[in-house]
Amino acid sequence: MAERPAARWLLHHHHLLLLLFFLVVALSVAGRCRAHFAFPLRVSSPVAPDGSVAPTPLFLKPPGGDGTGSPPEKAAGLAFASEPGGAVNLVAMVDNLQGDSGRGYYLELLVGTPGQKLNILVDTGSSNFAVAGAPNTDVSSYFDTEKSSTYRSLGIEVTVKYTQGSWTGTLGTDVITMPKGINGTYTINIATIFQSENFFLKGIEWQGILGLAYDTLAKPSSSVETFFDSLVNQARIPNIFSLQMCGAGLPVSGTGTNGGSLVLGGIEPSLYKGEIWYTPIMKEWYYQVEVLKLEVGGQVLNLDCKEYNSDKAIVDSGTTLLRLPEKVFQAVVEAIIQTSLIQEFSSGFWRGTQLACWDKTEKPWTFFPEISIYLRDENSSRSFSITIFPQLYIQPVLEVAPNLGCYRFGISSSNNALVIGATVMEGFYVIFDRSQKRVGFALSTCAEIDGSPVSEIKGPFTTADVAGTCASTVFLHESLLWIVSYTLMSFCGLVLLVLIILLLLPSWCRHPYTDSDIVNDESSLVRHRWK
Ligand SMILES: *[C@@H]1O[C@H](CO)[C@@H](O)[C@H](O)[C@H]1NC(C)=O
Ligand SMILES: *[C@@H]1O[C@H](CO)[C@@H](O)[C@H](O)[C@H]1NC(C)=O
Repeated sequence: MAERPAARWLLHHHHLLLLLFFLVVALSVAGRCRAHFAFPLRVSSPVAPDGSVAPTPLFLKPPGGDGTGSPPEKAAGLAFASEPGGAVNLVAMVDNLQGDSGRGYYLELLVGTPGQKLNILVDTGSSNFAVAGAPNTDVSSYFDTEKSSTYRSLGIEVTVKYTQGSWTGTLGTDVITMPKGINGTYTINIATIFQSENFFLKGIEWQGILGLAYDTLAKPSSSVETFFDSLVNQARIPNIFSLQMCGAGLPVSGTGTNGGSLVLGGIEPSLYKGEIWYTPIMKEWYYQVEVLKLEVGGQVLNLDCKEYNSDKAIVDSGTTLLRLPEKVFQAVVEAIIQTSLIQEFSSGFWRGTQLACWDKTEKPWTFFPEISIYLRDENSSRSFSITIFPQLYIQPVLEVAPNLGCYRFGISSSNNALVIGATVMEGFYVIFDRSQKRVGFALSTCAEIDGSPVSEIKGPFTTADVAGTCASTVFLHESLLWIVSYTLMSFCGLVLLVLIILLLLPSWCRHPYTDSDIVNDESSLVRHRWK
């Protein structure tokens, strides 16, 4: 009888769902309990150069509107190079970027026929290529499709949301050329933005965005071939690009531009020193990596390593700061306070609403600790650490008051990811090796201030002291309620389904909800809420 298997199926999955529900409740309770005991290890006092205590800084509100106040989220840089079918001339792409961590690193492109010159933000945390397609108060120029003989509209509207800001545009195709990139003309998908919110900001010098992440993140769907995939297919360059952002120690959102390099199709040896250390890409959507531990001033934070990857850890040139999951953020701030020797510290500084200012003659960097991020090596029983010195995360801002040097905190909290943003990337030459599904880090030749390095890479270390996997395979942390509601909804759906099956059409039981449906719904939900 047809009802028999259906009944058995229900019984089976009923238990599974109940089990899942109780598991979720149990984990949530466990998570909460753990939270109470999650504090950083006691951090030993650092050795101040002269044994002194740091002078208490003055805290100032950042001047409004220039992007130094609330930490801007977007920043990045980009570039290209190659000869179709031939060897890529990587050197030609050195120094093809301009910008800074505060407002982003951008590459010059010529879009359409004849080419319209536009500056394009380099963003490894999204996957659409989009340019201003209409006048906007915050952009100096835009792409006028009417003036391009090669523009083709696809007539599809697309909206992309970022951590900060969003835009809506029309999908189309056109050709681009890269003055400092790969020679040749390439046809690419392009969204022309006709409406945006908090996307183009005052003072930015770019008019478009180049999303260099995987097509999984492309909107409205992954069938929109990404700029880089088009380039790899048409120019036949290797499926790899690398990024050097050169803003270390320079004022964020300054008047000048700091430069950098986006090397398309390879690794340029003159941009790094020492070895390249590679960490596997966990999943090809963002450049998701696995963070194993964090150290502040040489002391390991006493947190479950899953906290560092909640609900993912990504490398994103389009994010200005180092962003840490709230619990990790609190632990890091606590550890920095204990290590910094600074007696009184305004919470506004840590939250990004205040600047810390010292007398111009004072260099506050000596009073802050180094921060190390441990990443899993390609050999999974090993790890390596990338270390940023305070020069990278205590960031000078342009002159606010005479005789005072003011700084902002280059780390902020996040509710859905650990983001290795420009703050960290400015210390390294970062290789996005898509062909081998790995991200490489090497010491950047421009990560120096007055001849002294501001970053460090060390390894290998054993991973015997960390869990087999630190990446959250399930979206436990922020999505508990969603899981519960999905579970309950699925259960109700099941009951309803079974009623229908029993009463009407027994054959429907061949297409029941499955566990993988639930997982898929959940992950796309998470994906859409972030970028
Ligand atoms: C592009 O062509 C110019 C002139 O032939 C050459 O100097 C340059 O190296 C080429 N660039 C790349 C990236 O191949
Ligand atoms: C991985 O690392 C471990 C520990 O250093 C070492 O014993 C092992 O040989 C390595 N495996 C490979 C394949 O290199």
